[in-house]
Amino acid sequence: MKEMAEYINDIDVSKQAPVAEPNRQYYFIKKASEYVKAASKEAGRPLTFCVTTFGCQMNARDSEKLVGILEQIGYQEEVDEDKADFVIYNTCTVRENANMRVYGRLGQLKAAKKKNPHMMIGLCGCMMQEPHVVEKLKTSYHFVDIIFGTHNIYKFAELIATRFESRRMVIDIWKDTDKIVEDLPSERKFSFKSGVNIMFGCNNFCSYCIVPYVRGRERSRNPKDIIREIERLVADGVVEVMLLGQNVNSYGKNLEEPMSFAQLLQKIEKIEGLERIRFMTSHPKDLSDELIEVMKNSKKICRHLHLPVQSGSTEILKKMNRRYTKEQYLELVHKIREAVPDISLTTDIIVGFPGETEEDFLETMDVVKQVRYDSAFTFIYSKRTGTPAAVMDNQIPDDVVKHRFDRLLKEVQSISAEVCSVHENTMQSVLVESMNDHDERLVTGRMSNNLLVHFPGDASLIGKIVDVYLKECKGFYYIGEMKNIP
Ligand code: 5AD
Ligand code: SF4
Repeated sequence: MKEMAEYINDIDVSKQAPVAEPNRQYYFIKKASEYVKAASKEAGRPLTFCVTTFGCQMNARDSEKLVGILEQIGYQEEVDEDKADFVIYNTCTVRENANMRVYGRLGQLKAAKKKNPHMMIGLCGCMMQEPHVVEKLKTSYHFVDIIFGTHNIYKFAELIATRFESRRMVIDIWKDTDKIVEDLPSERKFSFKSGVNIMFGCNNFCSYCIVPYVRGRERSRNPKDIIREIERLVADGVVEVMLLGQNVNSYGKNLEEPMSFAQLLQKIEKIEGLERIRFMTSHPKDLSDELIEVMKNSKKICRHLHLPVQSGSTEILKKMNRRYTKEQYLELVHKIREAVPDISLTTDIIVGFPGETEEDFLETMDVVKQVRYDSAFTFIYSKRTGTPAAVMDNQIPDDVVKHRFDRLLKEVQSISAEVCSVHENTMQSVLVESMNDHDERLVTGRMSNNLLVHFPGDASLIGKIVDVYLKECKGFYYIGEMKNIP
């Protein structure tokens, strides 16, 4: 980061912007920083930013890139959105309610902007990839300054510079891209762990899902770039990485020299100093025996697999275009558990998909009872315009869906409380993540299986891996005690 800052400092912005990336963006970082310096002088104080992230881990990682660029430009972080000079919403559109929240909060920002002449508002992320959203913003939300999508986050500095120059709403949305720009700044939320994108986009077109339309076609990053990024992270104190992709199991298929996800994992495993590897998300149809074998033999891959089932009914799975049956899913779970007995399994489930009958729903309940997930994210089906499911017959009435959802949630929670408690009175290796939110004598750490444990300790432990004895299960987390002093 320091080297990058020095390089950027030496750029002459009176010359033309370079065409090649990432140099072009370095140029605009310098240019934008001069505008920010001038504005900050006028305001008589440093300018601040606040990035709010909606949605998934992928968005969280993108936000770290936004923060990295903003800090290079000279903005300082401000946690209170109402006080910030640059407010950015990195949006999600997987379900309708996320969209409604963004519109609601934008209404409040309008008032804040009236009071602060330096304030800018930026919107990016999945929601911006939907043309009807951008239309609505253009007509009813004139006070928004910058709108961009999921494919051109790397251009953030350029868009900010353009906004300073044009004084008009800047909109830049790409339908799709085959471009992956490396070596841009990014600012990690945690010093000791980091998300690492290994691929972007999705080719699966599950019939309910808007992701393939807003994140574009599947593109894998070059393994060399991934390894180099992780090596740098490790040199900077990171001990745990979360490899991110919509469907990590199909990693590498479109590379010039194709490589499987399992092969990539083996390369990452060799990085010295890296202690833990996690990944997300796995599509059951692409989870290979090779991957199970690699997980079984690995010392670093965490004992946790997120394996979205979505529905337990083969009929509904077919309509969802998931390309596996209930039996195939259960067989896969069996194979994984046989190879890695202590694995923690989590899932995503959608209730109320069009045409879902009570029998279909009971199939889902049956899978939940058979698999006994450590935890499950349960969602009410949300109709996304443009997806095949949105125009399917037989959309399910709200009251029926709600009743099913409540039954499912109850089952999921009671199973997960039982499953969680099996580790009581065992020793576990734990990565200490933070001070406890409620009790300053405690720290909070994460086990390999993703469960949290709270135990006595102080801030010096944050980022360290320690052995903790699990004294008591409290439903979804543990109270423990450290047994060794690092
Ligand atoms: N309605 C409800 N849930 C959805 N998901 C994706 N699209 C929808 C939708 N239209 C859920 C899936 C996915 C998770 C990230 O979000 O379960 O795995
Ligand atoms: Fe959506 Fe299916 Fe792709 Fe996941 S795999 S992002 S649910 S289309």
